Amino acid sequence: MTAMYIVMLGPPGAGKGTQAKKLAQALGIVHVSTGDLFRENLKNETELGKLAQTFMNAGELVPDDVTVRMVEDRFSRPDCAKGAVLDGFPRTPAQAQALDELLKKFDSRVKVVPYIKVPDDVLVERLSGRWMSQSGRVYHEKYNPPKVKWIDDVDGTPLYQREDDKPETVRHRIEVYNDQTAPLINYYQEKGVLAEIDGTQAIESVFADLMNTVEKK
Ligand code: AP5
Ligand code: MG
Repeated sequence: MTAMYIVMLGPPGAGKGTQAKKLAQALGIVHVSTGDLFRENLKNETELGKLAQTFMNAGELVPDDVTVRMVEDRFSRPDCAKGAVLDGFPRTPAQAQALDELLKKFDSRVKVVPYIKVPDDVLVERLSGRWMSQSGRVYHEKYNPPKVKWIDDVDGTPLYQREDDKPETVRHRIEVYNDQTAPLINYYQEKGVLAEIDGTQAIESVFADLMNTVEKK
């Protein structure tokens, strides 16, 4: 099988992380989330984590060079050679170009870019009710509740709310998305790999559409 690189595109709260985890598991490839990698660094109090924190808490993007270096480092691990579901990367045209270059080294390219479309008012509601596990599993108090309130189903550790999920920060993240990330819709459309998905459906229906899209490519 040739390696399959998939880029999940969509605004904050669209369901990229939720769907990327399911997709990666179904395809037997890794899930690479730059947001999760930054949060892991934050938790471990690394230099990278400290640098990223100020940008993340303000709802701003971490600078391209720092982000690209982190992704290159992640891709140097052998588990990425079979393919990956990228979630939250690329997020700027410069990052998209860097990814194209990186995949050339693997003799590969981005195969499909599911663009999960969800209106802004829904995004704010989703993010204000989101509960996260330490390892990056995603719940929602109403739409995807854990079996026991505030406890991770898998390892029993407490769930938390993300610092950047406050309504005012969420609104700023949506602006940043519209300014800096939305241009990628065109970028991938021109390459013929964009596939729009209705992200307002229930989680399982979005996933069914996603699987269909990926299998057709
Ligand atoms: P990141 O962690 O990537 O955040 P994001 O893009 O803002 O996206 P989210 O994780 O908030 O949303 P999601 O689409 O994954 O939705 P989810 O599945 O959780 O980035 C955070 C920060 O890190 C950035 O702001 C930036 O500072 C930095 N960063 C990261 N990558 C970077 C990069 N490449 N360059 C520069 N900086 C970078 O779902 C949301 C909620 O909705 C959950 O509660 C879920 O249960 C629920 N839900 C999901 N699907 C449905 C559904 N179909 N119906 C009902 N509820 C649903
Ligand atoms: Mg996410």
